Formats: sequence, structure tokens, C-alpha cells
Amino acid sequence: MKENQQWSSKLGFILAAAGSAIGLGAIWKFPYIAGVSGGGAFFFIFLLFTLLLGLPLLLAEFLIGRSTQKDAIESYKSIAPSSKWHSIGYLGMITCFILLSFYSVIGGWIILYLVKTIRGDLDGLSQQEYGELFGATISDPVLSIGAHLIFMIITIVVVAMGVQKGIERTSKFMMPALFILFLVLIFRSVTLSGAMEGVQFLFYPDFSKLTSETILAALGQSFFTLSVGVSVMVTYSSYLPKDSNLSQSAISIVGMNIMIVVLAGLAIFPAVFSFGLEPNAGPVLLFNVLPTVFNQMTFGMVFFVAFLLLFLFASLTSAFSMLEIIVSVLSKGDTKARTKWSWIIGLIIFAVGVPSALSFGIWSEVSIFNKTIFDAADYLVSNILMPVGALLISIFVPMKMKKSHLYDELTKGNALSKRLFNVWYFLMKYVAPIAIFLVLLDVLGVWKRF
Ligand code: PFF
Repeated sequence: MKENQQWSSKLGFILAAAGSAIGLGAIWKFPYIAGVSGGGAFFFIFLLFTLLLGLPLLLAEFLIGRSTQKDAIESYKSIAPSSKWHSIGYLGMITCFILLSFYSVIGGWIILYLVKTIRGDLDGLSQQEYGELFGATISDPVLSIGAHLIFMIITIVVVAMGVQKGIERTSKFMMPALFILFLVLIFRSVTLSGAMEGVQFLFYPDFSKLTSETILAALGQSFFTLSVGVSVMVTYSSYLPKDSNLSQSAISIVGMNIMIVVLAGLAIFPAVFSFGLEPNAGPVLLFNVLPTVFNQMTFGMVFFVAFLLLFLFASLTSAFSMLEIIVSVLSKGDTKARTKWSWIIGLIIFAVGVPSALSFGIWSEVSIFNKTIFDAADYLVSNILMPVGALLISIFVPMKMKKSHLYDELTKGNALSKRLFNVWYFLMKYVAPIAIFLVLLDVLGVWKRF
């Protein structure tokens, strides 16, 4: 049976695309990477990349998707037939495959903490005890793999149900609630004693802390949080009606994302400094810090449960989009095939993610290029595959899509001034490919050889 895949409303699309964008990237990964990378300067570069590269690329993916109304492979094929450009779609599928395999491990951590909090295991512990409890939880192979499996099964079931019913409905109520809860959390965090040091850490840029690696990490982080470079946004916008306002959607998604990044940073860093912790604790940062903050609030654990639920939703809506792009290509609009492929691919992804789950416990000593399995998978996706995908898209769009056609497509559904269009086109054609290329070269140490 053929499905009629279209969003039921424009808001549905924005929520689903924002749902894909907002997830672990902004809430869990940004604070931890910023913490490792020295804070303010990283944040500044991240913002710059998000506005100058991420936003234009997001819009470019929307244009590819809506103008062709096809999946991640066919869309490139229909724009550039008899060429190899559709490999961008395959690269995106592979990237999402690896990404989801470790993303789901962290999603599993949220489920574990949700259950533990509801059971009362987190009531009234000390900061140090929270850290120990978390370490013990994620290093337990049965718990971490089991939770990873549960996260994957939820993702599979929702994606198997189809885009409209599954993804859209779930996205609708989560975002406003998440904003509100963050505000409550920040209020507590910034009123802790010594909190201002954390605010300063986050916003005061000390550029001497920047290295080639942290610049690449900021680039990868800005693509990661916006879900660009992997054709997920091509797929999502292919379900859009022709009269939707693309530039406004892109701007609101970027705006929401930056806001969540700032909120997450403001919730976490003041507490880190107030408790005398190190900001560079790595992937465990958020889980070590937040329980103590919540614990210092009246009804703290109730708030923590609400927070974890919303955090879980945010992560799931991102996970849906990663599986969706793969399943949509394989099932080609056939409902039965969609269910079959969702399960097959989803379960393989689960299996591939098991070593990442174990790398926080019994396999913590196994290393690939001096990184744990989890860190290596994340590095491959965030710092190599996503920037390369974004680079290819930034070459593809100006080269293969006519400027006049892009303008017509972009101005359907909204009156974008010619000048703004030209700014976007310039960023796409020159700034994005050159900047991404230079950042990648820089990390390879090419400059140093001259
Ligand atoms: N943007 C998501 C997040 O920040 O959690 C991660 C992500 C989702 C990246 C989907 C890429 C993607 F295709």
C-alpha cells in the first residue's frame, strides 16, 4: 500500500524538524564538549558556525527536499541524474546509522535515570554519591544494554507507524514544556553560591584556549545540533506542502536550538562551579551535576522526573529522524515495507551500538585511535562524516541547482527579499565550502607542514 506522506500542518513540520534538531546535542553534548573545550571561546565559535554555516545549510537541505519531494537518494538523483551526487544521500544514511547506534546508548541512560528517580534511589544523596551511582549504573552491562534496547524499540515502533502519526503527534507538546522546565532549573542553578563563575566560563571567550581540534569540534557540534549534513532535513522537508515558508522555518529552528543550548549551559555550568566540580568531566557531566541541583529544590525529584521525561522525548524525536531517513529510502513509500525495514535496521543499529554501551564499563580499556569505542564513533560522526556531508551539500547546491530556480523555490510561501537571498547564496556558494574545507585541513595539520 502506498502511503500519503505529508505533514498535516505547517506547525507539524516545524515541530518535527525542531524535534530532530533539539535533542542530546544541545542538552547533553553541548555542555560536555564546551566543558572539555574551554567554555566561552568554544561557545562563540559554535554560534558563528551555526549562523554562518548551519543555518544556510539547513535552508539548502529544505530546498532540496521540498523542490523534489523525494527521499534522501532520489532527491539528489532527480536534480543531478546520471551522476554520483546521490552518494551524499548514502553518506547521510551511513552517518545516521552509526550516529543512532551510540545516540541510543545515551538515550538509554535517560531511561535508567528516570526509573531510578521514580523508585526514589536518588533521594537526598551527596554530590559524590550521585557521581558514584551514575558511574555504577552505566558501567553495568545488563542495565546499559537493556536500556539501549528499550530506547531503540521505542524508536522502531514510532518510525514503523509512519511519519505523520508517529513523529508529529509526539513532537507537539514537548517543546514548550521543556523550555519552562529549563527556566525553573536555571533559576535554581544561577542562584547557587559561586554560580557566576560558571556563567563567566560559558560566555567569556578566552581565545587562547582554541586549538584546531576545538574549532573542528565547534563545527561538528553546530551541524550535530541542527541535524544538517546528513540529508535528514531533505527527507523531512520532502513531506512539506509547496506553499510552506522555508526560510522562516529554518530561522525558527536555529533560534530554538541556540536558545536550548544557552539554557542547557546556564543550567549546568553555574552548578558545576558552585559544587567545585571540573567542567571537563566528559559525557557524564550532565548526569553527575543535575541530580544535585534538583535535589536542592523543593519537590526536586518530581521536577527531575519531569525533566528526564522531556529530555527523553527530545532525544527520541531526534532518534526518529535518524531511523526515518534510512527507512524511507528502503521502503519507498510502502507501508508494509516500512514496518519490516524499521525493525530490521533498528535491531542491527542496536547490535552495532552494544560496544559503545560497553565502553563505559567492561570495555572501557578498549581503544581505537586513543579513544574509547564510544568516543571514536562520536568523533567519526560529528567531526568527520557530518562536516564532509555538509561540505558536499554546499558544493552540490550552487553547482547543480540553478540560482533562479532556487530563488523561485525559496520565495514560494514567503516574500524573501532579493538581497537576503543573495546573502544566503553567497554563504552557500563561497563561505560554507571554503570554511568547512579549511577547518578540516587545519585538523589534518596541513598548515603546519608548510
Ligand atoms: N540534532 C540531534 C541532536 O542535537 O541531538 C542529533 C541529530 C539528529 C543529528 C538527526 C543528525 C541527525 F540526522
